Amino acid sequence: GGPVEVDLADIPPGGSKTVEWRGKPVWVVRRTPDMLAALQGHDGELVDPQSARDQQPAYAQNPARAIRPEVFVAIGLCTHLGCSPTPAPQGGGNPSLPADWPGGFFCPCHGSTFDGAGRVFRNKPAPTNLEIPPHRYASDTRILIG
Ligand code: FES
Repeated sequence: GGPVEVDLADIPPGGSKTVEWRGKPVWVVRRTPDMLAALQGHDGELVDPQSARDQQPAYAQNPARAIRPEVFVAIGLCTHLGCSPTPAPQGGGNPSLPADWPGGFFCPCHGSTFDGAGRVFRNKPAPTNLEIPPHRYASDTRILIG
């Protein structure tokens, strides 16, 4: 198939939507200012804070890993062995997460942690940041993935 269209208008701030693209789940998350602030200040805990080592679109090679910082688009498959990480907000009470967890995503299979930009947090055991699919804005509120 061709590109998959996502309408942002019905995703509330802090909410997300999952669509399927080429058989893979793609997350579209509308970040709040708090979620954006939580991307700062823990570069020392990240394996690849600028996504320099991965094959990534140029527009993902920034701390937010996004064309627009307030909209995060990522393939929702762990880069370790392909399980589905789940959202893990800051202070969410997950005992598997460190006390200073900034919020992001947790993979239940082997415990990989990703921050809110899908960046590997403390390198266990996913090797690379979550993949950002090719996408573009068709209008102010519509994204085309693929
Ligand atoms: Fe996610 Fe192994 S598949 S940690």
